[in-house]
Amino acid sequence: MRPSPFAVFTAAVLACGPARALENGLARTPPMGWNSWNKFQCDVSETLIEQMADALVATGLRDAGYAYLDIDDCWQGARDSGGFIHPDPVRFPSGMKALASYVHARGLKFGLYSDAGAQTCAKRPGSRGFEQADARQYASWDVDYLKYDWCYTDGMSAPAAYGAMRDALAHAGRPILFSICEWGKSQPWTWAPSVGNLWRTTGDIGICWEKKACKSEWTTGVMNILDLQVGLEDAAGPGHWNDPDMLQVGNGLSDTEDRTHFSLWALLSAPLLAGNDIRSMSAATRETLTNREVIAIDQDPLGVQGHKVRDDGAEEVWAKPLAGGAMAVILLNRGEAPVRIRFAWMELGWSARPVAVRDLWRRADLGPFREAFSAEVAPHGVVLVRLTPSR
Ligand code: GLA
Repeated sequence: MRPSPFAVFTAAVLACGPARALENGLARTPPMGWNSWNKFQCDVSETLIEQMADALVATGLRDAGYAYLDIDDCWQGARDSGGFIHPDPVRFPSGMKALASYVHARGLKFGLYSDAGAQTCAKRPGSRGFEQADARQYASWDVDYLKYDWCYTDGMSAPAAYGAMRDALAHAGRPILFSICEWGKSQPWTWAPSVGNLWRTTGDIGICWEKKACKSEWTTGVMNILDLQVGLEDAAGPGHWNDPDMLQVGNGLSDTEDRTHFSLWALLSAPLLAGNDIRSMSAATRETLTNREVIAIDQDPLGVQGHKVRDDGAEEVWAKPLAGGAMAVILLNRGEAPVRIRFAWMELGWSARPVAVRDLWRRADLGPFREAFSAEVAPHGVVLVRLTPSR
């Protein structure tokens, strides 16, 4: 039997991986945590962050793996005469070291945001020309994660600018996970694996299934972002991941769409950064974000990003090889009516054999199947199954 294109792809990724990767020991699996931007934009403060730290613990998110608590744009105040940045004194009166200590005391890690240009996207001071001072300041505050944006960078080279901050972080005296956010503009998947632990592949995610439903012209839909991930798979692996942007789960998509978004991000080995108000989320949102069997697909130690196996218009099949010879498969219905989607083992490069099928949202073992599986899939929904061949 000729190997399927999917089997050829998987073998190639496992054999080669990227030529050089940033080996700072971090993000061996895709980072998980919470980030302030999607829900709060510039409305951040130490009170909000302390409440989120408490909520990450109280809701069980921390114990499900959401380790990083990241403040996005707008925490910055001014630089001092020595060039060192300080937080906004009104919003963060106790300072960042105290806030990091509050976060660390709850068993979490602490993240901040800056920008490679002279200003951040929200016009706070950026790091251009201050890379070393900023990296040292973050380390002195016990920061664990830096997201580094790309506003106000006209004429700058992204590999050089991100390389400068990578080097500054490497000399800061503390391991700091490095998140590259240049929106996929200069094909970061071709150069970023040796520079950062993750890199955004697209513009900003909105609270919308497709672009036409997005309220802001700056944002794009979950399905548009998904389409842009095809072909980027081999850049990802332990320590270096494609980043299709943070989660909008709990921010206004339907519960079905939230589960679809979360399932697909897990299959893509994407960072899982919740972006909703976890202090007041619904039971359905909490269940989606804490489904451990789905999280395990994202966090699988093999670290192979999933791949689109078949595209029949509104019906798609995606698969991700897992450690130990198992496979995660998503049946995706992008259409407006329920459909039955079928796939055969042959499409995964498997010959006919008994395979145990488990539905990860219904949390049900569906029994062994010999050569194919089919399920009815709701509009905008997925069926996510884990396939385990019998020994
Ligand atoms: C850009 C980034 C977002 C967010 C904002 C903050 O748009 O892509 O994720 O960080 O800036 O201003």
